[in-house]
Amino acid sequence: MSLDKVETIFSEQLSEKDKQGTAKRNELVITGIKPAVNGHGPRYFLANQGDRGFLRLNSNSYLGLENHPAVINAEAQAAELYGAGPGAVRFISGTYQPHKDLEQKLAEFHGRESAMLFSAAYATMMGVLPQFITENTLVVSDALNHNCIINAIRLSKPANKAIYAHLDMADLKQILKTNKGLFKRVCVVTDGVFSMRGDIAALDQITDICKQHEQEYEEGIITLVDDSHGVGALGNTGRGTEEVTQTTADVLIATLGKAFGVNGGYVVSSTKTVDYLRETAPLYIYSNPITPAEAAAALKAIQIVDSPEGIDKLENLRQLTQQLRHGLIQAGFETVPSEHPIVPILIRDTETTSTLVEYLFANNILATGLNYPVVPKGEEEVRLQVSASHTEKDISYFLEVLNRF
Ligand SMILES: Cc1ncc(COP(=O)(O)O)c(C=O)c1O
Repeated sequence: MSLDKVETIFSEQLSEKDKQGTAKRNELVITGIKPAVNGHGPRYFLANQGDRGFLRLNSNSYLGLENHPAVINAEAQAAELYGAGPGAVRFISGTYQPHKDLEQKLAEFHGRESAMLFSAAYATMMGVLPQFITENTLVVSDALNHNCIINAIRLSKPANKAIYAHLDMADLKQILKTNKGLFKRVCVVTDGVFSMRGDIAALDQITDICKQHEQEYEEGIITLVDDSHGVGALGNTGRGTEEVTQTTADVLIATLGKAFGVNGGYVVSSTKTVDYLRETAPLYIYSNPITPAEAAAALKAIQIVDSPEGIDKLENLRQLTQQLRHGLIQAGFETVPSEHPIVPILIRDTETTSTLVEYLFANNILATGLNYPVVPKGEEEVRLQVSASHTEKDISYFLEVLNRF
């Protein structure tokens, strides 16, 4: 018995990734955080980079809540009360009061009857989508949907799947028309905000189109939305894509690990649907939940989003995002129009993308380069992500550096 033979194959695959410039395993290690001071937001220290403090323009923490004293305090207090981990899956003896309180708050926050936690949004999608899919179901998916949707579809083994061109509503409509009579049920699944580009699904149009065709399918058309990047980052009150499109999905999935600054995932829907999922989703039934302390921290984070402080943070986030978008366009760079704090600089070339990321790093700025096959060829980009913990000075500093590139 040995790994020798397979490791020859693994080596080839690793070399290929290195050659393509898409390897991810050489991770940067954060060793400390310098809190905001003198009009600057927090700076991050990295292993092997001495006392250089980096401006982090590649975090999903859109409101900076991971460092909020009340969130940290809620986590610490719950850890004191309940311990460091759940010790069992939910139905055995792993359900703590903070899990129940958080589920109730999530349902209320999203205007739904019920909510259910998972260990991550990825696990939520993998746990939820297959429970909607039968051997008579067609899954319809946006071409740029997140990897968790792609893998959840693979796990689901639907009767068939159809991919519509990114945000192309005519294509979606055509798919629903041409498949009439061929399947009993349809699941239309989409990201709310697309993580590579920051553009937003037209949930209002998707819902209208689904309603128009609902009668043509015996078991109806269900809309499932993953709004991991939208919730807490979009809309005056942070309800995400549903808020900006004034639409409610049948099933909404999101994360606690981005704008809410903690960790974990969840689904919200009707009580009947959530009861069904609690009985059927293996990633819920047979896998530990987030810790009671994480649940308490997430509850506090949502309470903050739902307060005047949260509304101010969201307004600040919008203004900083506008400052960045405006500055980029003024400097002659190309971006994707959106109001979301994911702001891509479209470079459209692999080498220049890598050079720009290295140049920013040399100037103490962390940004993410996205090259093929993570994005389509010709759409290579440097992705920037704004947070309410940044300041006007931070964005001005970034733009100054960029203008010298
Ligand atoms: C659309 C989408 N869904 C799910 C996830 C995964 O979230 P989590 O870290 O909670 O698993 C991401 C993370 O990048 C995402 O962009």
